[in-house]
Amino acid sequence: MQKEDLDVFVVGAGVIGLSTAIRALEAGFSVTIFAEIFPGDEKSIKYASCWAGADHISVAATGAFMHELEQETFAVFKGLLKEDPDVPVMVRPHQRYVQDDQPDNWMNTDHLRNFYPDFSTLDASELPQIAVRGAAFSTLCIDVPRYLPYLMNRFLASGGRAFRTTLPSLSALLSNTDRPTFEVFPPNSSRSPPTLRPTAVINCTGLGALSIGDVLDTRVYPTRGEVLIIRAPWVQRDSGFRWTDGHISYMIPRQTGDVILGGTYQPDDWHPKSRPETVKLIKEHGIQAFPELLHPSKRETLNIEDLDVIEECVGLRPTRKGGVRLEIESLAVGERTIPIVHNYGHGGAGYQSSWGSATRAVQLLKSVLKTDSVY
Ligand SMILES: Cc1cc2nc3c(=O)[nH]c(=O)nc-3n(C[C@H](O)[C@H](O)[C@H](O)COP(=O)(O)OP(=O)(O)OC[C@H]3O[C@@H](n4cnc5c(N)ncnc54)[C@H](O)[C@@H]3O)c2cc1C
Ligand SMILES: *[C@@H]1O[C@H](CO)[C@@H](O)[C@H](O)[C@H]1NC(C)=O
Repeated sequence: MQKEDLDVFVVGAGVIGLSTAIRALEAGFSVTIFAEIFPGDEKSIKYASCWAGADHISVAATGAFMHELEQETFAVFKGLLKEDPDVPVMVRPHQRYVQDDQPDNWMNTDHLRNFYPDFSTLDASELPQIAVRGAAFSTLCIDVPRYLPYLMNRFLASGGRAFRTTLPSLSALLSNTDRPTFEVFPPNSSRSPPTLRPTAVINCTGLGALSIGDVLDTRVYPTRGEVLIIRAPWVQRDSGFRWTDGHISYMIPRQTGDVILGGTYQPDDWHPKSRPETVKLIKEHGIQAFPELLHPSKRETLNIEDLDVIEECVGLRPTRKGGVRLEIESLAVGERTIPIVHNYGHGGAGYQSSWGSATRAVQLLKSVLKTDSVY
């Protein structure tokens, strides 16, 4: 059988599903994406990818699996930027500061030094008054509202197909009786309905965990992230500040002049709307850490009312105890058993580990299709 006759179904059109689907196409498979939510849709609490900043700051321990994925992804982004200056990713200076000296991975200078080639620690004279320590390096800022459509277009332009559907289970994709409804995506493309006879399925459903009910992975949970989008076109750097009270202020610039100001990390909190007290906390910490978020004429008074807030956002990071799941299993329906490759549970690091994860998922796919228990 030719590879292009091997139909691979990718479930999920977040940054993980899209990157994985692109890698699978590049490996020569015929690829179809199935998802409830796509890039360009109205923002949804069920779609973590639309809420991210997103920058690339590796806080996974040196040597950890996630660290490898992040390193591979960093290299891929750098390559993309070289090949195509229009890719919506920017190289930006990053500075991070801590208010006190508790050791942690967030300011693990040995780790960061290994990861980011131009890493340096800041001198006392370079620190804001409220910080005791700081570090600087260049990193990547991924312009999410442009980057997701970029991935989608790249997938479609390379011959990928996509259908919108809400699946009660993954096995619903394996049977032509009792079919869920499918809508062609994008809606104006002419294409016949899918034949449900995949060679393999890749599961990139993020927090779908709790809705896609063949087998529930009880290790999956949300880490709620509340952030603000601020209009501040003069901000060109990416920055973070860890406060003694545990709050982390961070800001990530976008190409449009909008800046993401974060934020919270709230495990197991599903609340889908912003909370006024949290918004206030993010603003108060934010303007003290980064007075430059305010218009130059307003920086003396540090008044939160002077922030130009465009949007209050809440996203749920698909987190997993034990970390990301990149693994092969099989899915049995009636007489048929097909391989399923899992690629989910990236928590707060889905962008910065996306290409590394995608490559691993496709390697797993190739390995299982070679040993072939399939057809
Ligand atoms: C506030 C915030 C800031 C962040 N900042 C960063 C950052 O700076 N850097 C970084 O690397 N990461 C960041 N992240 C994390 C990143 O956004 C996530 O790790 C990433 O988006 C996860 O992508 P995903 O594709 O796994 O999931 P999602 O984007 O949630 O996509 C899931 C897909 O599966 C589909 N799906 C699920 N269930 C079903 C079903 N039953 N039927 C059909 N389709 C289904 C959905 O429709 C969707 O298409 C941030 C996240 C948040 C919330
Ligand atoms: C697919 O992924 C979800 C996580 O989003 C997980 O809970 C579920 O168990 C996986 N599906 C199967 C059939 O294993």
